[in-house]
Amino acid sequence: MEMKRRPTTNSRNAVQRYAHICGWGTSVPERVLTNHELARMVDTNDEWIVARTGISQRYIANGRETTASLGTAAAREALDIADVTPDDIDLIIVATSTPEHHFPSTASLVQDALGARNAGAFDMLAACTGFVYALSIAAQAIQAGAMNTVLVIGAETLSKIVNWEDRGTCVLFGDGAGAVVLQGSDSPGGVLASLLRSDGSGGDLLKVPAGGSAMPASYETLRDNLHTIHMNGREVFRFATRVMADACRDVVAAAGLTMDDVDVIVPHQANKRIIEAAARGLRLPIDRFAINLDRYGNTSTASIPIALCEAVSEGRIRPNDNLVLVAFGGGLTWGATVVTWDVTPKATVTGLHKMRRQALYSVARMRSIVRRGARAIEGTIWGAQAPDGIEPPHREKD
Ligand code: COA
Repeated sequence: MEMKRRPTTNSRNAVQRYAHICGWGTSVPERVLTNHELARMVDTNDEWIVARTGISQRYIANGRETTASLGTAAAREALDIADVTPDDIDLIIVATSTPEHHFPSTASLVQDALGARNAGAFDMLAACTGFVYALSIAAQAIQAGAMNTVLVIGAETLSKIVNWEDRGTCVLFGDGAGAVVLQGSDSPGGVLASLLRSDGSGGDLLKVPAGGSAMPASYETLRDNLHTIHMNGREVFRFATRVMADACRDVVAAAGLTMDDVDVIVPHQANKRIIEAAARGLRLPIDRFAINLDRYGNTSTASIPIALCEAVSEGRIRPNDNLVLVAFGGGLTWGATVVTWDVTPKATVTGLHKMRRQALYSVARMRSIVRRGARAIEGTIWGAQAPDGIEPPHREKD
């Protein structure tokens, strides 16, 4: 799927809409797990992990920290910065590989926690490429004029699906969430172009084999650890180094730019050596890339928004910078987006500002409790009575 930069008006003279990032936020669990601690759990050591991956530590969720709670916290921060209220949101997309359930979607849980009464909500499953996919879909909904405000979240609790006895995978992943608010505007800029790709023939290289309809949960699947991440590390490494540079080059061309116009590349934070290979492939200095995987590990869909937020808060990303966000992951999937960072935060987040928003979220929580209560009472009153005009199903006698 590719979007080219278009003229500011179309043939009917309607105003072209652009999708700008106007808010951003992150949330990570409290608990940090260092390489040294991991070395006491499996046969590994800090030197190996740092040399082969660049990772020194990662955040791990406790029982109360879930994909939805981390996603909600990141979203609240992003809404604060954008100065957007939950009622303004038209759509919430949560990109995640670790949803709370098959359904309801994690996005619907976030919608309820925020009290976003006017929003649609769905999850996006494209493994670690999910955030780039979601951002692209959100931008297109805005550019088409169908939506004005879309909340895009990447949120993960990968620690819950990692096999903590497999040193080949458990050293790589971490938990966390990042979010951005996209809003429509008539001024050119924002998300300029996207490229989304998939090669399902490589699906077996990175997968959670059981728990879906192909292999429902059973005693055997639990015994054989088939609900955890299974990965062919070397093959995924080869695939990632092949696609990263090409995706960057192609999406930058689709945006009508050259690599010289790109100020910062925010790559998926899987492995420092993969990012270094992409830098070599693009003949760019490594300092053109925002890298923070040493402190977070691979947080899948959350890795790009977390790295983006850090780069903004460190002043690495400045107004009018051109960014490339580029990701790869299970599926196999890969994708990239070009964004012009041209919107300065609307709101200075003060204590009063935060208190007002906190009150909104408390009202949302109360509203949700009242709704659940009302539904329970309704269920008790109406009991087994079928809705008007619908006969209860009956079984034929044998
Ligand atoms: N600690 C110590 N040794 C380890 C280890 C660990 N955590 N994990 C693997 N090893 C060992 C292997 O058993 C192997 O030993 P052997 O030579 O005796 O068989 C040796 O280290 C080399 O293994 P190899 O798999 O070739 O290492 P590598 O350099 O390819 O690094 C990965 C392994 C997983 C770090 C690397 O392949 C990788 O990052 N792949 C991409 C994974 C990824 O990004 N996945 C997410 C995609 S979104």
